[in-house]
Amino acid sequence: MKRKGFLTFLMSAFVVAVFVMSGCTKEGPPGPAGPKGEDGINGNDGTVGCIQCHNSDQTLAALTMQWEYSVHATGGNFERNTTSCAPCHTSQGFLERMAAGTQVTAEDIANPNPPNCYTCHNIHKTYTVDDWALTYADPITLWYPAGAEAVDYGKGNICGNCHQARIVNPVPVPGSGVTYKLTNSRYGTHHSPVANMLAGLGGYEKEDYDNSPHGSLVEDGCVTCHMADAYGWQAGGHTTKIEYDYHGSIEVNFAGCTTCHSDEDKLATELEEIQTEIAGMIDNLRTILKDRGYLGDDDLFLASSGSPLNLTADELGACLNFQMVLEDKSNGVHNYQYSKKLLEESISDLSK
Ligand code: HEC
Ligand code: HEC
Ligand code: HEC
Ligand code: HEC
Ligand code: HEC
Ligand code: HEC
Repeated sequence: MKRKGFLTFLMSAFVVAVFVMSGCTKEGPPGPAGPKGEDGINGNDGTVGCIQCHNSDQTLAALTMQWEYSVHATGGNFERNTTSCAPCHTSQGFLERMAAGTQVTAEDIANPNPPNCYTCHNIHKTYTVDDWALTYADPITLWYPAGAEAVDYGKGNICGNCHQARIVNPVPVPGSGVTYKLTNSRYGTHHSPVANMLAGLGGYEKEDYDNSPHGSLVEDGCVTCHMADAYGWQAGGHTTKIEYDYHGSIEVNFAGCTTCHSDEDKLATELEEIQTEIAGMIDNLRTILKDRGYLGDDDLFLASSGSPLNLTADELGACLNFQMVLEDKSNGVHNYQYSKKLLEESISDLSK
């Protein structure tokens, strides 16, 4: 290579390097056109899907209003957003743990939302009415008791994934002769063990106790009774409420009951009777547990890791049964026979 040619080469190499370093590209002239592609399928009008839901028939408005008055929206406990609470108390945490099949979330949930449309429906996945499908509809594998068969409440399965017992520890075993240490003032099944109660699973049982038929007979479980035809924004539908205030008096929305209980007046009387009976038994057991120094005025156990309660299986079982029937919150409606037997046996155990 001649010297001048070499210099020119160096110069052009430098210029190229500057271009490359400054990120510039230089395109050559376009090549010859390729063969024509196949015609695509005609798309939908961009808003056709949207309008099936976002239209003027006020359905969305009515259901949104019902949800806005539900305890899901108003309860205020959405800020329980840490890894072990977020799976039921936040929408994002629920969707994450259901997809991952875990009982905790990987991180605390930022900007936590309470259960809402996106928790239960596949909103804005396909942008068609198919998105009303429930996010989770399969039978529920309960967290507790360990090894229990899956329970199936149809459309109510979405509900029972959250309204189920948290893991109980320790679990008293009848006749074990073990002395159990109760170290947690919040011992038991947590605040809404309904999926367990309906199936009669998780109480302290001496033998297999009988169940009332609501858990097995009501096809869509929770949804049939709690999401029956709405009374405005006060009960039924997406309020999930059973009771409502009718101009100053508390009424029951029987819309979900009457397919089976045709006589509404008779049902109202029966409902009142069994709820009064179970509430009375809860009260009796509460008094006994307090007298023994197990329970405080706020229904929390008088126990901590520093000062545990040392209890027999029957004694711990009574604590478990009290907590479970109380926090089921239906005063026996979900499973009358099971609730009654749990309370009866525990009252009798502690009265010996
Ligand atoms: C299956 C019914 C359904 C379809 C189909 C649907 N949406 Fe929605 N959309 C909803 C629901 C439910 C909400 C939440 C309402 C609420 O939060 O009260 C929502 C919320 C919205 C919002 C408010 C902001 C937000 O994201 O929360 C916008 C904007 C919106 N949709 C636009 C659209 C558009 C555009 C389409 C079509 C491409 C569409 N939607 C299709 C049901 C639907
Ligand atoms: C993602 C978890 C989750 C799902 C799914 C869920 N819930 Fe809830 N539910 C909650 C939480 C949490 C609360 C309490 C909200 C609060 O206090 O902030 C609650 C509150 C309620 C209440 C009010 C309880 C009271 O003390 O008055 C009812 C009734 C209820 N849910 C029924 C249902 C029904 C019926 C379904 C199914 C259609 C359902 N829930 C699905 C978590 C859930
Ligand atoms: C398996 C699901 C689940 C998990 C996990 C869970 N909760 Fe809850 N919790 C619920 C449901 C459902 C309710 C609503 C009960 C109701 O209103 O009837 C609730 C209610 C509550 C309440 C309101 C109690 C009341 O009577 O008003 C508090 C406080 C609470 N939870 C705290 C927590 C904390 C703290 C954690 C984590 C350490 C946690 N929860 C984990 C399901 C869960
Ligand atoms: C706690 C779970 C839950 C939440 C939150 C929830 N839904 Fe639903 N939704 C259900 C269940 C369960 C059904 C089925 C009820 C039935 O068939 O009786 C349903 C049914 C519907 C239907 C009828 C669907 C169809 O196939 O025709 C619409 C519409 C709807 N919900 C809209 C909403 C909107 C809008 C929101 C938010 C404002 C919302 N839902 C929040 C559980 C939920
Ligand atoms: C056979 C009908 C029926 C079924 C099935 C049913 N419930 Fe209930 N539930 C009731 C009645 C009735 C009450 C008592 C209402 C009252 O006393 O105000 C109640 C009370 C409750 C409460 C206490 C708060 C409230 O609204 O009074 C919660 C929470 C609850 N049910 C959730 C559920 C969940 C979750 C499921 C499904 C796992 C379910 N229920 C299944 C009828 C039913
Ligand atoms: C799928 C049918 C079905 C539905 C829906 C239903 N029940 Fe029942 N219920 C039964 C059967 C069966 C029994 C047991 C026979 C009897 O006592 O009538 C029963 C029993 C009862 C009892 C007596 C206590 C017990 O469990 O043995 C009460 C109270 C009750 N139901 C209330 C309700 C209420 C309130 C609703 C609606 C929120 C409701 N039921 C919805 C079928 C149903």
